[in-house]
Amino acid sequence: MKNFKQIISKLISKNIDISEKELYTYIETPKDSKNGDYSFPCFRLAKELKKAPQVIANELKEKIDNQIKENDNIEKIEVAGGYLNFYINKKILAKEVLNEISSKDEYGKSDIGKGKNIVVEYSSPNIAKPFHIGHLRTTLIGNSLYKIYKYLGYNTIGINHLGDYGTQFGKMIEAYKMWGNEYNLEEDPINKMMDMYVRINNLCKEDEKVLERCRQNFKLLENGDKYCVDLWNKFKDLSMVEFNKIYDMLNVKFDSYNGEAFYSDKIDEVIKTLEKKGKLIESEGAKIVDLENFGISTPCLVQKTNGSSIYATRDLAAIMYRAKTYNFDKCLYVVAYEQNLHFKQIFAVANYLVDKKYVQGLEHVSYGMVSLPTGKMSTRLGNVVKIEDLINGTIEKAKEIITDKNAQLENKEEVAKKVGLGAVIFNTLSTTTIKDQIFDWDTALNFQGETGPYIQYTYVRTKSVLEKAQNIPEIKDIKIDNLLDDYSLEILKLIYNFEDILIQVTDKNEPSILSRYLIDLSKAYSSFYNENKIIIDDKELQNARIYLTYSVRKVLKQGAELLGMQMPEKM
Ligand code: ARG
Repeated sequence: MKNFKQIISKLISKNIDISEKELYTYIETPKDSKNGDYSFPCFRLAKELKKAPQVIANELKEKIDNQIKENDNIEKIEVAGGYLNFYINKKILAKEVLNEISSKDEYGKSDIGKGKNIVVEYSSPNIAKPFHIGHLRTTLIGNSLYKIYKYLGYNTIGINHLGDYGTQFGKMIEAYKMWGNEYNLEEDPINKMMDMYVRINNLCKEDEKVLERCRQNFKLLENGDKYCVDLWNKFKDLSMVEFNKIYDMLNVKFDSYNGEAFYSDKIDEVIKTLEKKGKLIESEGAKIVDLENFGISTPCLVQKTNGSSIYATRDLAAIMYRAKTYNFDKCLYVVAYEQNLHFKQIFAVANYLVDKKYVQGLEHVSYGMVSLPTGKMSTRLGNVVKIEDLINGTIEKAKEIITDKNAQLENKEEVAKKVGLGAVIFNTLSTTTIKDQIFDWDTALNFQGETGPYIQYTYVRTKSVLEKAQNIPEIKDIKIDNLLDDYSLEILKLIYNFEDILIQVTDKNEPSILSRYLIDLSKAYSSFYNENKIIIDDKELQNARIYLTYSVRKVLKQGAELLGMQMPEKM
């Protein structure tokens, strides 16, 4: 497809001593199309050119106006304040979009990421502990980022960095030794393991000797003691069965499940490298790395007094391993903002362990807290809602709503599943990643709100329109002039922007840009639908409107799929 943004940056660069590439990043898309389709903010040049933005805008306009006389891509240019607003040729845009839709199965797919390796680490729950609503958020954000990077041609590696190591397993082993016969783990694995963990933790607080035994157990585990390793495997297997139920429900997959334990034999290299560089400092028997020169006042602990590794050490080993194994351009960590300091620290220490280009690729995709209307979710407190219950509950509610709206609907179960899951997924991905968020059933399932079901409903509506038309016309039978009204153009412009939206998602690692977009597209289609009759006597006009409907349908489905949602055909 023609890249109008590029055409514009080329025009500007001809008249100014700034690279086309840089100018490209300055160009904005105005919220209100009265201000043009693209806008160039001249104040960005004011300092360098020592001129007022408005003066720059006027001068540029005059020059470019002369140059575009033969260029039919741009209709006109206007100056508004310090902005230079570009109005592109709508007919060309419409043609471009429809041709692209008709010729590509996967609209918006690209290969701009070709040759680049992206590691996306997400989900990463802790063995023997509940999968909480925060884990749901990382799972869904990561899954969507993974899909979008892939769609843009990046070689993408999805990693579930399981929390399957650490002193808590020393505690679990001790608890099992002491009370194993009291708990039927198979019956309700996570909760039973959690109960054991809470009990041993309390005991450790009272009895220093027990705590010491727990530490010993972890040492034994680290050294490969058979009894400890077997038990640890048992805890892990039981937990994975539970986690996989959730992943299956959400249709989430990973390329690797290399969790913390995987790095236990790779810790030595971390310690040795740091030692060799003289960066390891003894501190009360433990080993730390000072980070003052990175502006971080808390040093990074890498080895405990008893020689055991900690969470951070395993992360450092993972950075070394991933650099070597995947030669990554970016390595993203979708983890809650509570761990901001942790990632600052390990990214700083990484400077001593891997090449600078890898350090630059490390990025913490930090997300906010999720709560239910009843209050904060916490693993420590007993009031944790099981994720399965939350998802099943939403599906149940979706079924009630659907039955209410359309009692005759076939396959209600299947539709309710898609709608319920769609509600959960979309709700999770519609908030800006860093912001806190509330999960509320009624809001997430509101068919008229800015929700997953609203998008699905729009999609279903396009289907019933297409069914009425009976067949989808061929592209050669579409007269573009029938699609130059404001409602149609609004849609065409949005569709045109789809790939750019996906690129923005990867630039900012922010799937909410795509969810926002899908809402905008659904709204634009609803306005078009309310404003225009589609099945009409004028077949030429009907064909154009049907083709537009077909295009919207294609993009909605593709966009939703990239968020991890599935579309029902009826609801
Ligand atoms: N297991 C941790 C948790 O549940 C998250 C792990 C994040 N990833 C990492 N590489 N540290 O809080």
